Amino acid sequence: MNSLFIEEKELDALMKSIQPYAKKGSMPEYIPELNKMDPDLFGCAICNEDSMTAAGDADYLFTLQSVSKVISLALSLMDQGEEVVFSKVGMEPTGDPFHTIHALEEEKPSKPLNPMINAGAIAVTSLIAGKSGEEKIGRLLTFIHELTGNPAISICEKTARSEKENADLNRALSYFMKSHQVIDGDMESLLDVYIKQCSIQMNCKDLARIGSIIGKKGRDPNSGRNIIPPRIARIVKTFMVTCGMYNASGEFAIRAGVPAKSGVSGAMLGALPDGTGIGIISPPLDKKGNSAAGLKLLETLSQKYKWSIFT
Ligand code: DON
Repeated sequence: MNSLFIEEKELDALMKSIQPYAKKGSMPEYIPELNKMDPDLFGCAICNEDSMTAAGDADYLFTLQSVSKVISLALSLMDQGEEVVFSKVGMEPTGDPFHTIHALEEEKPSKPLNPMINAGAIAVTSLIAGKSGEEKIGRLLTFIHELTGNPAISICEKTARSEKENADLNRALSYFMKSHQVIDGDMESLLDVYIKQCSIQMNCKDLARIGSIIGKKGRDPNSGRNIIPPRIARIVKTFMVTCGMYNASGEFAIRAGVPAKSGVSGAMLGALPDGTGIGIISPPLDKKGNSAAGLKLLETLSQKYKWSIFT
């Protein structure tokens, strides 16, 4: 069955049955501002072309966190091309958590394994075109405004400040990469851009629109124009399958088969090749850092509507 036929009351009922899964998760601790989120928040939006089905807290604003890595990857590939980007970051999944540092030391010459772990994402962000950090984050925001059609999307400064005060691990990853010539320039300014990128806030509907565009080869359903070149949309979607759920990506590919990306705010983005985009928020996280209820919801939706790209 095509997702266009999902009705709001159907989605609402499904979410009510899945809400208890949030209790299996716990709130993130290393970013205090995220820890303050309401653990009972649960929102979902599913869109395709001009249809949108939304239920629960689908209008609530949350920060993207690692979901932003998908968007910064698309922009840096558009800015620099594949050769430059993949000279700095690899294409291989990792069985390690998102903040892993040991692989950086083991790879010779040092290179983050993929753009979805923190080290790889920081390297990718350094490649966004712009003379200053301000210009880089400004260009990323403009790109997001274009993808969502929502010019009101902005940075949650409070969350950015909260992360900046607790960013020693990302700081260590950045300086390690600088000392191994993976990245260069001012690391504090780069961290500032990366943290602001993670603190971009939107709602489930905005996120679902981004998923729809990535899903359908980068094509904007309103203008018919490719906001993201098809090949770059394909690269991004492939990373979502292989690395989007970190060290739970393999199991998620088998259970759901949906190109997806999670963030430590409890956000989840799904992008299907038929242009179905999915945005979910539920803050409590499972042991691997993915939204406990969000993961279950996307798995259940996929099984119910036969969304797996592996058919
Ligand atoms: O860099 C960090 O640690 C956070 N801003 C984002 C990490 C994240 O979302 C991991 N996802 N589950």
